[in-house]
Formats: sequence, C-alpha cells, structure tokens
Amino acid sequence: MSKIEELRDLMKRYEGINACLYTPIVIYGNVLYEGNRKHSNQFRFDYIDVKDKIVCDLGCNNGYSSSRFAENGAKRVIGIEKDPIIAKVAKLVADVKNLPNVEIFQGTYQDYFDHRQHPEHNLEFDVVVFTSEQDYRGVCTVLDCAFNPDEYLINTKTWYIEPTNHPDHKLSKEEIKEWGETELSKYGDVEFLTFTDYQNRGLFRINVNTNN
Ligand SMILES: C[S@@+](CC[C@H](N)C(=O)[O-])C[C@H]1O[C@@H](n2cnc3c(N)ncnc32)[C@H](O)[C@@H]1O
Repeated sequence: MSKIEELRDLMKRYEGINACLYTPIVIYGNVLYEGNRKHSNQFRFDYIDVKDKIVCDLGCNNGYSSSRFAENGAKRVIGIEKDPIIAKVAKLVADVKNLPNVEIFQGTYQDYFDHRQHPEHNLEFDVVVFTSEQDYRGVCTVLDCAFNPDEYLINTKTWYIEPTNHPDHKLSKEEIKEWGETELSKYGDVEFLTFTDYQNRGLFRINVNTNN
C-alpha cells in the first residue's frame, strides 16, 4: 500500500467522528479532509514567524500546522501528539508532502520534555506553538511547568499561544484578549496578535523575559 493510500485508509476511520482529526489534511493544495478548523480560515498561522526557525508544535494533531510551518520556511519542526493514530496520520502527511524537516513524536509533551528521562530532548527552540489545553486557563498550567526545571523544561525564546475558549467558558472576544494580555504577561512580554477563526479565540505572542 502506498503512503497516500495508507493515509486515505486512516482518514476513513475518522469519518463522522467529530473533533479527532481537528485540522484539515491538504496535499498539494487539495483538501482531502476538512477538520473543525477549515483550511480556508487558517490565517492564524500566518501570524507565526517561523522563517529559518526551529519550531515546536505542542499537540500537533494531524500535522496540518507542523507541515504549514515547514512550508512557510521553518528550518526544523518538532510536532508532538499523544494520540497514536493521529500521530501516525501526521507522520504520513509529512512523508507524502516530502517534508523531511518535520519530525513527529507520538506521546505527551510532558513525557517528551521530562529532562530526566530524555536529556537528549533539551533543545533550544526559537518558537513553541501551543493551542491545545482543555480550558483557556490551562495554558498557564503548561507554561508554569515549562518554566520550572523540576517539572518539564521547554527551552524557547518565543511562545505563540491560542488559549481555548470553549462555548461553556462563554468569554467574549474582548474578555479573552484582556485575559491573555494580563495573565500571560507574567511569562514575558505579551502581544495580542489577532482574533482567530473559532470560538472567540485570540492568538498571543510571548517573548520570554530571560530575567524571569
Ligand atoms: C484541539 S487539537 C489542536 C491542534 C493544533 N494545535 C491546532 O491548533 O490546530 C489538540 C491536540 O493536542 C493533543 N494533545 C492533548 N494533550 C496532549 C499532550 N499532553 N501531549 C501531546 N498532545 C496532546 C490532542 O490529542 C489533540 O490532537
């Protein structure tokens, strides 16, 4: 079976199952699969400066974003996805698109960045992208751990964060903007970049304050 057939076969398993393959699968401009986030609306990634950068994509799902970063000129992309089948899809997508600088790891980012178990993963990233926690406040749990060498350690100069804002959180666009500008500023210089295409969400950049 060719890689593209293998990919189509795996995609079939997700037909009608909402929220598993969250992002689209696009091969050579053809949308093979539409996710919750539609391909034509993914302008959020154009705000992320990845050119010539080493990028980590936390919770990369089917690798739509990881591939897009490589296509936008990233030097190296490490995508981390905990779900084994979704991670397999992400690897196939990078293979079919012939993007050797996209490396997908199956597992949790907490395990990946456990520096006692995996000292070899202590890379210096230029950019880390994180959009995935269950609750918009969850990004702080991850950032707190990422800055704490006793937990896991994620070494980067710049974070791009899109906190979730699920319908039950009921935050308006203005509230999520204000929340991000206030709460994320404890990790560095925070800048609100744009509202995104989904659930009143917004994208923020944090330039890590090395004095923290
Ligand atoms: C909602 S999707 C977001 C995908 C992508 N980051 C985006 O914004 O389009 C979240 C993904 O993160 C994965 N995930 C959740 N917790 C994770 C963890 N601790 N480690 C690695 N992946 C995780 C989920 O399996 C899911 O595929």
